[in-house]
Amino acid sequence: MKKASVKLDKDYIISRIDPRIYGSFIEHLGRAVYGGIYEPEHPAADEQGFRKDVLALVKKLGVPVVRYPGGNFVSGFNWEDSVGDKASRPKRLDLAWFTTETNEVGLHEFYDWTKKADSEVMYAVNLGTRGAENARDIVEYANHPSGTKFSDMRIANGKKDPLGIKLWCLGNEMDGGWQIGHKTATEYGRTATEAAKLMKWVDPSIELVVCGSSGYTMRTFGDWEYEVLSECYDHIDYVSLHRYYDNRNGDTGSFLAKSMELEEFIHSVAALCDAVKGKKHAKKQINLSFDEWNVWYHSAEQDKEVWKRNKRGRALPLLEDIYNFEDALLVGSMLLTFLRNADRVKIACMAQLVNVIAPIMTRNGGGCWAQTIFYPLMEASKYGRGTSLRAVVNTPLYDSAEFTDVPVIDIAAVLNDDGAVTVFCVNRDITEDCELTVDLRSFGNLRFASHSVLHHDDINAVNTEKSPNNVVPMSGDGAVPEGGFATVRVPALSWNVIRFTV
Ligand code: AHR
Repeated sequence: MKKASVKLDKDYIISRIDPRIYGSFIEHLGRAVYGGIYEPEHPAADEQGFRKDVLALVKKLGVPVVRYPGGNFVSGFNWEDSVGDKASRPKRLDLAWFTTETNEVGLHEFYDWTKKADSEVMYAVNLGTRGAENARDIVEYANHPSGTKFSDMRIANGKKDPLGIKLWCLGNEMDGGWQIGHKTATEYGRTATEAAKLMKWVDPSIELVVCGSSGYTMRTFGDWEYEVLSECYDHIDYVSLHRYYDNRNGDTGSFLAKSMELEEFIHSVAALCDAVKGKKHAKKQINLSFDEWNVWYHSAEQDKEVWKRNKRGRALPLLEDIYNFEDALLVGSMLLTFLRNADRVKIACMAQLVNVIAPIMTRNGGGCWAQTIFYPLMEASKYGRGTSLRAVVNTPLYDSAEFTDVPVIDIAAVLNDDGAVTVFCVNRDITEDCELTVDLRSFGNLRFASHSVLHHDDINAVNTEKSPNNVVPMSGDGAVPEGGFATVRVPALSWNVIRFTV
């Protein structure tokens, strides 16, 4: 058995954790909305057509904010199509995903759904085919109390009170050639600045996320952030990051180490924000919104077939990755990375929530179930609230084909507001368990509360409608603290949540 140790101290503080790091994302794409959260013909549908069984799982997951309505979709979307009388809403070609959008679910319905899901809307405006004027109008529609064209239109459409949407994205992945209305950094920087000014002049209480690069490996990464931020620094609050990982090489050691690259990505974007801050002698700090992240690759071949057969269809089964146990471990390590960087990462949205690269799957007319990646997000959202602690970790290392000096034990620790200490840990070792000693001396008398372990002997194990509990958290060995130290066995290839309470 390997050995590792971690020293925690109540005074080694990284930052308060913004609960919005446990956010998610629903795009008008595939079966995320139609056949996902919304299926009026389903026996479990409520009076608005939302599936109550799906809502129950979303609530269990605990996502405080949901980004909407895209994604690539938003860059060709007219929000006006999605409000007012349902029967008169136009059907439109969606040129982002080569499908048809019926607009049966729009802003009002989605807003109602987030309330039912105990969540909030994070709304993306279209800066692809549209610009500042349209961005201004939708903020006026959603957030202005009354007495103007768009606020009165909202009232006429049935919402007397403003929706009070706090968080807004200035477009989506505008650096990507695939994006409808793709822009250079100079073009986007100007458009985003003018949109941001008008949006905040309508409602000064809103927060704005400007598009960073759509990925760390983009050719324009770095230059894009520097130029866009140089232009709009004074008008925005967050810069976005997006990252998806895959294990196409079938190399588990390298795959599980990919969160090391994520950490480097976060540090690089924070450095770029601070470089612009320095250049401008600014007082304000720009923080990070990691508003798309996940594993994404399993569905690629299937998608080609779906498009071949059904181009332009509605609610096609696109991006329906079936996640295995190994994926849950990397997702766990990605969450640990956000916690360790809680001083800069204030928002993160797992992409996405239902059916489309999602923790929750549904069958039309049938059941819904939690995929493997559901569990790390659920447990992190439940127990990862409070203050992120700087863990001093002593762990064996390994080398893989793509990474060197990979920590076998990946850790983040949280001091919860009730005084409990939660240690989250991934054991990346493929064969060996690890004996982890946790130094808790600075917290006084803590007692062992629980140890939850997500492990499966088969890295390819998945959950299905018929076997929804194949990969689920189980109780671990736990550890009773003695003299301020607790020693716990973390199994080879496992996600662990170890809790100590006062
Ligand atoms: O989440 C799926 C897609 O990935 C989003 O629409 C886009 O923003 C990203 O490229």
